[in-house]
Amino acid sequence: MKKTIKIAVIGGDGIGPEVVAEGMKVLEKAAEIDGSFAFEFTEFPWSCGYYLETGSMMPEDGIDQLAQFDAIYLGAIGRPDVPDNISLRGLLFKIRQSFDQYVNIRPVRLLNGAPCPLKDVRREDIDMIVIRENSEGEYSGQGAWLYRGQPNEVVLQHDVFSRKGTERIVRYAFELARKTGKSLTSISKGNALNYSMVFWDSIVKEIAAEYPDVSWCSVLADAACMFFVKNPRRFGVVVASNLFGDLITDLGAAISGGMGLAAGANINPERQYPSMFEPIHGSAPDIAGKGIANPFAAIWSASQIMDFFGYTERANAILGTIEKMLVEGTVLTPDLGGSASTQDVGNAFVRLMK
Ligand code: IPM
Ligand code: MG
Repeated sequence: MKKTIKIAVIGGDGIGPEVVAEGMKVLEKAAEIDGSFAFEFTEFPWSCGYYLETGSMMPEDGIDQLAQFDAIYLGAIGRPDVPDNISLRGLLFKIRQSFDQYVNIRPVRLLNGAPCPLKDVRREDIDMIVIRENSEGEYSGQGAWLYRGQPNEVVLQHDVFSRKGTERIVRYAFELARKTGKSLTSISKGNALNYSMVFWDSIVKEIAAEYPDVSWCSVLADAACMFFVKNPRRFGVVVASNLFGDLITDLGAAISGGMGLAAGANINPERQYPSMFEPIHGSAPDIAGKGIANPFAAIWSASQIMDFFGYTERANAILGTIEKMLVEGTVLTPDLGGSASTQDVGNAFVRLMK
């Protein structure tokens, strides 16, 4: 009996639906080649457009609807005429938090043929996996806004670092380092953030004691940015809080081919809830609807879907095909110096898959 993997697809806004459509072609083709499983896609129109029509980013029971699926494939959320805090809190963060997708896996790898703005860096020098805490930290959404508009106006934005939340992400990263034989770097700012990051550092130290076989170090966030550019080779597995992980993965994207090649997986490792896969670029309203968005990041997240369901070879084959297209350089979108459309890239991709 063929296994069916049920995927909820939320194309979202801007270029989201355009790139996800190509990713779905790739997933379908991978299933067809394999023969042992099939995807069943259900598309949801939830987006800023949906918000402007209905007053909410998703229906009341949106989370319950998504809970029925094995995974979620998301394009991008955000539109200039809807405030970001409404669209993101109403959908992206709601899904990440409701489904306890506390691990955000973001590979930073310089694929063959991908452009790199760094000088004197060899391709194999950029090969890391950033593990971003995805459920709390600086993104907790807690705080207060007092005396709005008054001269004595005060704003408080609280970080939330729980022992459970910090231990589980750090342990996940150490496990991954052990499994892959990579070193582990914890991103800190304990020299300035005297509660959150001092606590983070102490948990890292505690957990590290359980992994004497993993070589690890702690690097301050500002220095880490510098080393991402000057010496990316020193990083293997990188573990970071929600905000630091966000910042450093855009930098990671910049050194490894650009946002058009950056994918991320929001994982609930216990598989109690569906995990969510997305390109980490935004909705790019400036190029939306023009058919020129680069679908590779969405296709890389499709590869992460394959990996998540245990089809590692299929996942690697997808990355191999991205490399092949980058090296050949004949069917690429304008951001990579080509003149092909989003669909051209997706169609050529599927033709190359074996
Ligand atoms: C990301 C994005 C989001 C984040 C934005 C859109 C809120 O930048 O996934 O990296 O900060 O988590
Ligand atoms: Mg980001």
